[in-house]
Amino acid sequence: MHIAAQHQPSQIQLNQDGNLKHFLTIEGLSKSNLTQILDTAQSFFDDNNNLITTPLLEGRTVMNLFFENSTRTRTTFEAAAKRLSANVLNIDIARSSTSKGETLRDTLWNLEAMAADIFVVRHSASGAAHFIAETVCPNVAIINAGDGRHAHPTQAMLDMLTIRRESNKPFSELSVAIIGDIKHSRVARSNIAALQTLGCSDIRVIGPRTLLPVAFDDYSQDVRLFTDMDAGVKDCDVIIALRIQNERIDSPALSSQQEFYKLYGLNEERLALAKPNAIVMHPGPMNRGVEIASSIADGAQSVILKQVTNGIAVRMAVLALSMQGQLQHQGFADTLSL
Ligand code: CP
Repeated sequence: MHIAAQHQPSQIQLNQDGNLKHFLTIEGLSKSNLTQILDTAQSFFDDNNNLITTPLLEGRTVMNLFFENSTRTRTTFEAAAKRLSANVLNIDIARSSTSKGETLRDTLWNLEAMAADIFVVRHSASGAAHFIAETVCPNVAIINAGDGRHAHPTQAMLDMLTIRRESNKPFSELSVAIIGDIKHSRVARSNIAALQTLGCSDIRVIGPRTLLPVAFDDYSQDVRLFTDMDAGVKDCDVIIALRIQNERIDSPALSSQQEFYKLYGLNEERLALAKPNAIVMHPGPMNRGVEIASSIADGAQSVILKQVTNGIAVRMAVLALSMQGQLQHQGFADTLSL
């Protein structure tokens, strides 16, 4: 299901000053917008690389609205909001009055009336966050925590922060391989957009034809397609393995998981084809023995758990920046180093 939007995300994501108001998708944001998110996220680590706590969003209310399951995104948004000293409410959608026939609009208007400043929204329908920001609650900052197969912008930004913190090269000099189910993945889509915006010109997507986008021409020449995994990972600096999104696949795209692992699983031999200090990433949830071997997931080159920690910093940045207009009036701009 896709919810149609009337305006381009860039028209409603930014306020009149060009600063973030809603965070719906990477597309339409500039390199400077993305760099601001990364710099702000980095500022939430202290000199010992520990995340800080700050009163930046004291008195603000963040509501987590997860219409689809999540472990990492929901929890790290809650952790992020608490580190910014905001009030956090996790709305239990399964027990809400949506089960009694209340519409999404009515649910959201009632939550807005409870003095919500920010809605963090995950929904299985592509375009849901955009629809809410555009037509339902434009005065609440809407953060997209993943919508259908469309976008997962905070995952992309935590992946970019991880690449920036763990690689010793600028984006323009990196070769990045994204492996697996590209076709159904909102993470792949947002990561490709973020990498392109940040100047990466060697992006490789690797997978069987059934799991690669049909309209591959949507991507520019920065993105190369590989069905041969060995050729695709050769000399890469960054490898991002993706889960097969079975819940979004209507008909079988693979003969078997064993067959997928044989052809596209990230194992020791394949990792050895990449650069010696290549980093291995995975957004989670991870299926060991399908897209990645346990020895690689837990190995020295894996930064998978660092992605999770960086997710708190990035989500702190996005929450804080979406309130930037109000914070400036309160003299908080200096605290954010903006
Ligand atoms: N990466 C990610 O979105 O994980 P969750 O589904 O657990 O939030």
